[in-house]
Amino acid sequence: MNIVYHENTRTFHLYNDRISYIMTILRNGHLGQLYFGKQIRDKEDFSYFLEMSERPMSSGIYENDRSFSLEHIRQEYPVFGTTDYRQPAVEVRQENGSRISNFCYKGHVITDGKPVLPGLPATYTEADEEAKTLTVMLEDAVTGVQVELYYTIFARGGVLARSVRISNGGTQAVRLSRAMSLCLDLPDREYVWQQLSGCWARECHIRTRNLEPGITAIGSMRGNSSHEHNPFVVLRRPNADERQGEVIGISLVYSGNFRLQAEVDAHDTLRLLAGVDPETFEWKLESGESFQTPEAVMVYTDRGLNHMSQTFHKLYQRRLARGYWRDRVRPILNNNWEATYFDFTEERLVEIASKAKECGVELFVLDDGWFGARSSDRAGLGDWQANRDRLPNGITGLAERIEAMGMRFGLWFEPEMTNKDSDFYRAHPDWILATPERSQSHGRYQHVLDFSRKEVVDAIYEQMAAILREAKISYIKWDMNRSITECYSAGWPADRQGEIYHRYILGVYDLYDRLTTEFPQVLFESCSSGGGRFDPGMLYYAPQGWVSDDSDAVERLKIQYGTSLCYPISSMGTHVSVSPNHQVFRDTPLHTRANVAYFGTFGYELDLNKLSGEENEEVKEQIAFMKKYRQVLQYGAFYRLKSPFEGNETVWMAVSEDQKTALVGWYRVLNGVNGTYTRVRLEGLNPSYCYRNVYSGTTHFGDELMCAGLITSDETAGQVPAGVKPYTDFESRIYVLEAED
Ligand code: DGJ
Repeated sequence: MNIVYHENTRTFHLYNDRISYIMTILRNGHLGQLYFGKQIRDKEDFSYFLEMSERPMSSGIYENDRSFSLEHIRQEYPVFGTTDYRQPAVEVRQENGSRISNFCYKGHVITDGKPVLPGLPATYTEADEEAKTLTVMLEDAVTGVQVELYYTIFARGGVLARSVRISNGGTQAVRLSRAMSLCLDLPDREYVWQQLSGCWARECHIRTRNLEPGITAIGSMRGNSSHEHNPFVVLRRPNADERQGEVIGISLVYSGNFRLQAEVDAHDTLRLLAGVDPETFEWKLESGESFQTPEAVMVYTDRGLNHMSQTFHKLYQRRLARGYWRDRVRPILNNNWEATYFDFTEERLVEIASKAKECGVELFVLDDGWFGARSSDRAGLGDWQANRDRLPNGITGLAERIEAMGMRFGLWFEPEMTNKDSDFYRAHPDWILATPERSQSHGRYQHVLDFSRKEVVDAIYEQMAAILREAKISYIKWDMNRSITECYSAGWPADRQGEIYHRYILGVYDLYDRLTTEFPQVLFESCSSGGGRFDPGMLYYAPQGWVSDDSDAVERLKIQYGTSLCYPISSMGTHVSVSPNHQVFRDTPLHTRANVAYFGTFGYELDLNKLSGEENEEVKEQIAFMKKYRQVLQYGAFYRLKSPFEGNETVWMAVSEDQKTALVGWYRVLNGVNGTYTRVRLEGLNPSYCYRNVYSGTTHFGDELMCAGLITSDETAGQVPAGVKPYTDFESRIYVLEAED
């Protein structure tokens, strides 16, 4: 890995053994983009790739010179209004009403390692040799506004992390109406755009679009990154697939309003922008003040989508997630939500927990409904003290009983919300986000606390910390069940209201930071009605997140498959729930529910007392299986082999780091009669290891399984021999492959 600056040609080349990123200082002092892709050898002069030529009808910067128009030049941090008509990366509104800036090169520094982004989640290094960072300083001479562009190249993987810091070095206040984290100008548009979209209980479905002239965009203006669009996109070459071809993945380490967009211009070049949503953002910079954008992470590979995902998985697992739980297998939990909803007493919880313990569960989680006057979703949020009618011994007493059973205890919070029917709201009616003289819309009868104000965050922190200090709590599920409306803060002046969405998220990060610092061994699971805020920003504080409120195994195939495009298996909260399922009312076999949930953190979302004795025995086996293999399942290399978006079957697999163990998950939605022969070519095995297929009892070398494939055909459905259990719909299997010594 290296970052080279060629003085003569004023060219920067950032490279490692996989990628090159090349920029040059343009004739007008702006920073121009030359190349991003597979690593190429370093040399002094790459100006050939600038491709500047006279174009008819273009606007020119220099009098009587038609060859220099920003309209045709690929740039690193472009502005609008001076010969470039595409959407800009930054816009600075000045006191005289002007929006034009002219950011010219002032200097640069190259440092080892990676700087911390104050108050924001970001990837990090643990040793200086892991990365190098280039900071390029630009300045607009008229306003004195300075821009620092940060580029961190990691030694391992085709990864570049980028962010921007904008400072007002002038004397007059300015307003940022746009401050994107990343602009990537690519020379052609021969890409397919893929996004992870959906809605509540249907998150992260893979959607694909061709890029045409104009803008292709996703984003959120809801205050949370949203169920609708994950802050992640893929640009893949049309011939690229899971196994091969050029792919670029862009991921924004942010949990609030965002925009990711690709603009194809009339000459078929492509501008990619990623950052805070400009529509809902404005930031005042007084003289001397700075604004730090969130981080955007770019991954390039020429080895297909799966390799891109593995690059993100490793980075996000080891250098975005942090703390005690980062590298540890996750406890198998039993959450009471779908077992009881709001209808529980301490005794009922203990009954559920006892059975869970008997089956081998390690962590019992008490979900919503334990506090204040919370007997339904109409009251109580904000009052984080145990409801003594339900829990006579408080949280401390219940936690002690659970611990005494030999299990850990976990607790649900929704820190960012309040119900009007709560003591907290009654004491602080002006602490919710609400616009003066306008109606206050609710979502699930609740209102969003104004986390842009420190005193609000302080008050919630004090309540949460008090419980955590007193009771033995090992896990927190941090929920967030509505998006923001009427976004306005009574704590900030009129000219700062454009900052509230971002300040809100900074408040959320601040609370996470304080709690994870004071209680470093508590495992945090983020949640936002399932996957409404399942994003890299959350992963920095909470190493796992509840992927979706849809716990049906069949639905989860698509959701988890899509989520795996960017996020590691260790980050996905996955539970076995009751059948018929509570969201789609579908009956699925118990083993299929577990076979899907194994590829995640794993747990149960039901009352195990309600299962038959036979089913309880099966649950015990599932838990024993998960304990044996969770290191491989959660931390192994993950391969997508057959997509649920393309057919009736899904196949994925995880391979241990030493390649000695592999687990293949095979899932079929509908059964057929007299089916076809099916096999799937595996990946990631060691070609010369001999693997025992625990399912079939046969042995095969890795090369056989990767070249000829693993046979997944059924015995003929519809003609089941006596004594053999017939297969049916929603069938699945886990093939365990163990390398023989
Ligand atoms: C939404 C979450 O996603 C559920 O798992 C559950 O915690 C409920 N909220 C509780 O209100």
